[in-house]
Amino acid sequence: RMYEREQLIRINKEAGQFFYNELTQNKVHTEASSYLNHRGINQEIIDKFLIGFAPQGWDNLLRYLSNKGFSPAIIHKAGLIIPRTNSTGYYDRFRNRIIFPIINIQGQITGFGGRVLDNSLPKYLNSPETPVFNKSRTLYGINTARQKSRETGIVYMTEGYFDVISLYSHGIENTVATLGTSLTDEHVRLLKGMVRQVILVFDSDQAGVRAAARSIEIFCKQNMDIKVLILPEGHDPDSFIREFNSDKFKKKSENAKHAMSFLTDEAVKKHGMSVEARLRIIEDMKNPLTSINDPVARSLYIRELAERLGVDEAMLLQRIGHSNFAPP
Ligand code: GTP
Ligand code: MN
Ligand code: MN
Ligand code: MN
Ligand code: MN
Repeated sequence: RMYEREQLIRINKEAGQFFYNELTQNKVHTEASSYLNHRGINQEIIDKFLIGFAPQGWDNLLRYLSNKGFSPAIIHKAGLIIPRTNSTGYYDRFRNRIIFPIINIQGQITGFGGRVLDNSLPKYLNSPETPVFNKSRTLYGINTARQKSRETGIVYMTEGYFDVISLYSHGIENTVATLGTSLTDEHVRLLKGMVRQVILVFDSDQAGVRAAARSIEIFCKQNMDIKVLILPEGHDPDSFIREFNSDKFKKKSENAKHAMSFLTDEAVKKHGMSVEARLRIIEDMKNPLTSINDPVARSLYIRELAERLGVDEAMLLQRIGHSNFAPP
């Protein structure tokens, strides 16, 4: 088992090298370079994130890795090739895509993400789960974000590869992203020993707001300090920092809302402030508030909500599932 893990890490490293060389040394792939260039990604950033390109064709990587002595069985186990259905043999999983190696905190490549160069679907393709790649435990950018996160005590949590890379290239190195999956307890654990505060910067669309709300509950269960940075409608962190600049981004992050205020604001937007609406807001806030494990923090947020809605604090406390308040 141990040996297998090492082999998979070695294979991923070789594959990463192959993709990187294709992008940076194979002059045929001008479309990949110009795509990255167009998105503001320069050579320094390509090197930092080991960005690469998977060329068109069915077996470029398979042949490269075979020549290095890896068996098809282990290359398959690494998720890099897929068995053919109508004949024997395998074909490359990643073809004609920009490649983002996914690197763990030890600096090892555990998997890959690949983006198409146009509007075709699926836009992104990730490595499947392997013995070394588990999406619910993986944060893209964890290795590039580590140092600055520790120094500042803050990490930005975004949705995508380009958000991490773009913020990094604008000097905001303490940025990570989930791999298009929902946040898990394990993601939070990864960050918990590293920072005291997480600033969520989700895409400013409906899906983003929903994802933020779900993430807040997961963070609160582990007593993490969470803020939410809200971008103008239609923006994601990458598009925002490229259209504006890092000062604008930092300004926004100084004004980031506390998670509970964010959720309350969203509930007010949704329901309004009539008597019935306020009852619904309380319903919406019940789960998030009970997910706060720190009793002091919880009671402070309950007080804040009571004031905001103009209801009696003791009554609100009673309504927000007093069963969660363990007797002394
Ligand atoms: P760009 O459009 O290149 O700027 O990417 P984005 O990161 O802004 O994409 P989007 O906001 O649509 O999605 C956020 C993240 O979800 C991506 O970075 C991926 O990790 C993931 N994702 C998006 N589309 C797909 C998909 O088609 N398949 C998979 N597996 N993941 C996806
Ligand atoms: Mn999105
Ligand atoms: Mn996005
Ligand atoms: Mn984007
Ligand atoms: Mn810029």
